[in-house]
Amino acid sequence: EPVPQPEWDGISYPSFIPFREKGAEKAIQDIMGFKSRESDILLATHCKSGTHWIYEIMQMLLRNTTELEKGAKSNSMLEGISDLSSLDSIPSPRILDTHCSFKYLPKQHIEKKNKIVHIVRNPKDVCVSFYHHASKDKFTNFNGSWNDFFDLWMAGKLLYGAWYDYELEMEQAEKDFSGMIYTCYYEDMKQDPVKEIKKLADFLGVECSATHIEEVAKATSFKNMQEKKFDITQVFDGKGFIYRKGEIGDWKNYFTVAQNEKFDIQFNKKMKDSPGNVYDLY
Ligand code: A3P
Repeated sequence: EPVPQPEWDGISYPSFIPFREKGAEKAIQDIMGFKSRESDILLATHCKSGTHWIYEIMQMLLRNTTELEKGAKSNSMLEGISDLSSLDSIPSPRILDTHCSFKYLPKQHIEKKNKIVHIVRNPKDVCVSFYHHASKDKFTNFNGSWNDFFDLWMAGKLLYGAWYDYELEMEQAEKDFSGMIYTCYYEDMKQDPVKEIKKLADFLGVECSATHIEEVAKATSFKNMQEKKFDITQVFDGKGFIYRKGEIGDWKNYFTVAQNEKFDIQFNKKMKDSPGNVYDLY
């Protein structure tokens, strides 16, 4: 049976409990009205860009550990929590996360110029990863083919809205709020995790030894996370589907030549006036 896709302001959302219970408008308003602490760090990402991965790296850096955290990320995903005051019990610094776009982030977080960490991934790989996720997730009602999913992406009709809108808004915010947002790239993190984790630690203001950074890189390798990490989506299908492949360029196994051409045309058009450097990612 198809699940409802709550919608507001032209964007549809997964049917998480707050969205079902309160409706999308109220759920988003509650996120915007969230009571922020100065020490809060927000992980703001478009879906399937590596949110779980960066979350683990961040919690290891901030808590000086190499233990993977059970249920992390899902437990502090703003749009998944009905009563946001339940996050009051988390000790500082809290790591919160959301896929909602910049304009819907907690107002206090922005006013206080609290830190935001943002990860960008090649949108072609995001699209393929999202297709697999949407096909298995009980909060979405997608049960079409790859071609159907590709068409939805091209039409900008996926959950949380179009990737382009998300990233362009984020780039603009990066310019408007200088120093508040730190952007890392999935591909860079994959190619040189030690270097990228060090940069992230610097942004977070965490001092840690070179040895600890190397240990964090090892503990958050795709293989280690896939083997050892409790994947909350196991609850739905027994196996879990977050840690699928974790590679750069899997899109080449899905995109036809014609789809790739279409995608490139749209990408170039949409990102033509890109104020930042997401364009270079391509
Ligand atoms: P794939 O579907 O391409 O495998 P998110 O956490 O934002 O939902 O993103 C999920 C994507 O990040 C999945 O991509 C997943 O495999 C990948 N991922 C998760 N942990 C990773 C890790 N440690 N290293 C590399 N990729 C990882």
